[in-house]
Amino acid sequence: MQLYYPALICTLVLLQGCNDKNASNTIYRPDNGSASVLRSNLDASLTEMIQQHGLTGDPAQDRTLPSIETPLAQLGMKLFFSKTLSGDLEVACVTCHHPLLGGGDNLSLSIGVNASDPDVLGHKRLLMGNLTPGVPRNAPTTFNIGLWKQFMFHDGRVEATAAGITTPDVPYPQPDPLAGANLAHAQARFPVTSNHEMRGESFDAGGTTQSCRERLAERLGGYGNPDNLLQPAETQYWLAQFRAAYQQPDAQAQELITEQSIASALAEYERSQVFTHTPWKQYVQGDLTAISDTAKHGALLFFRKRGEGGHECVACHRGDFFTDEQFRNVLMPPVGPGKGNTDPDNQQDYGRWLVTRNPEDKFRFRTPSLLNVAVTGPWGHNGVFTSLEGMVEHMLNPFQSALNYDPAQLQQANIPSQQLQRNLREMLGSNTDMAGQAYQQEDVQYLVAFLNTLTDPCVTSTACLSKWIPPAQQDPQGLQLDARFEP
Ligand code: HEC
Ligand code: HEC
Repeated sequence: MQLYYPALICTLVLLQGCNDKNASNTIYRPDNGSASVLRSNLDASLTEMIQQHGLTGDPAQDRTLPSIETPLAQLGMKLFFSKTLSGDLEVACVTCHHPLLGGGDNLSLSIGVNASDPDVLGHKRLLMGNLTPGVPRNAPTTFNIGLWKQFMFHDGRVEATAAGITTPDVPYPQPDPLAGANLAHAQARFPVTSNHEMRGESFDAGGTTQSCRERLAERLGGYGNPDNLLQPAETQYWLAQFRAAYQQPDAQAQELITEQSIASALAEYERSQVFTHTPWKQYVQGDLTAISDTAKHGALLFFRKRGEGGHECVACHRGDFFTDEQFRNVLMPPVGPGKGNTDPDNQQDYGRWLVTRNPEDKFRFRTPSLLNVAVTGPWGHNGVFTSLEGMVEHMLNPFQSALNYDPAQLQQANIPSQQLQRNLREMLGSNTDMAGQAYQQEDVQYLVAFLNTLTDPCVTSTACLSKWIPPAQQDPQGLQLDARFEP
């Protein structure tokens, strides 16, 4: 911390002619301190990097994504905010993916069912009693979800293969015939089937994932399901919404409101969340004033090769979407209950291995996109880092950071961390995909400044995001989740 201030100040002073010899040993920094030379050197080096990596600034350019104004996305928004899709009418998709929380929930580990107040979202959301979190992972953002080409989830358990989309409902890597038209559709069929996220313990108890979805569709449509908790006015409301969105004014609920038509609408809403108009994009597209010199330094560190004065983050965070969609073990400190463990003391999350059972995939997780990363914390698949600085320090030297990890930074109660050291030893005995490297403290600030240029201004503006949030109390039974955020 003490180190980077002089460096930063010197960078600023550099513009007026300070010679930055003390703080600098990265090779691209110019000796000549005149403002125009500095600016053009930085821009020239960055332009070279941008060309070398084939960046256009626009990760959405080869995609056709819906507007939020389309009828289907509008229906999807109402469903996304509706507690009718959870077993006990308490949880909605938006519980863990709120636009005002960066498309996530601001928690390290998500809290779905059994919240002490179901409508409180954000860092004040608590589990009833002193329960340990049941959801083992951090909720990724739904922003820009339509830009993923191959994988959904931290472990990629929904995957677009040549044969079709595979999901946890079928043995890997077979295609799931019910996966739907795109990754977001395939994914949207799963949260409702998860006990900890939305289903609870009693809804369709003993049923399959598919029967759970079908019972929910029957509930929404007011058909089939004998113990419906919805009032007739509520099911009428949904029928009208589906008829309008699917433009089938005379269709009956039974044919129109199905688990597929629900997932399809949810996916259209999520896919409309395209937030890519970042200062970085403006810069890549030619506006050299769109980002600060500090951020430009950070960008160079991000793109440059290790042997050439950089940290080569781009080796994995590649392209305009800042991910190669591959799986890596980057030694994220193993806290939390872990996933899929029958032994509650294990608390390990084997990541991609849980899908492929390939020993090499142990502890590997999907490289996240870095677009809007400043608003999607806590960071990592288990939300272990509660500051972006801490997360970046980890990526600079995962080994050192993991060994020194302090669970006290977690801002959420009852996240198990007793097995941290034991589990870390197991991780270290497995493949790791990243070697640590020496770095200077100021590099962290440069990199964070660069990452901050990847934020679309819309995602920090309540007014801009209001298109993705329905007006309060739209449905007759009051089952829309109108979030309360407590300071
Ligand atoms: C209790 C919190 C919770 C609820 C409710 C919830 N999610 Fe999630 N969501 C998560 C978590 C946690 C993950 C990551 C799980 C993993 O990777 O193993 C996730 C993953 C996702 C992803 C994948 C993102 C990516 O980058 O791969 C999408 C899309 C998504 N959820 C959409 C939805 C939709 C649609 C609903 C409602 C049907 C929903 N979620 C309900 C917590 C939640
Ligand atoms: C070897 C591949 C690789 C390299 C190199 C790499 N990363 Fe990552 N990065 C990952 C993976 C994989 C994750 C997710 C790990 C997890 O959650 O378990 C990640 C996570 C992150 C996150 C957290 C994102 C989120 O939404 O939680 C940030 C920020 C990040 N990396 C920045 C960087 C920076 C800055 C560098 C360069 C100093 C870098 N990364 C280098 C693979 C890499």
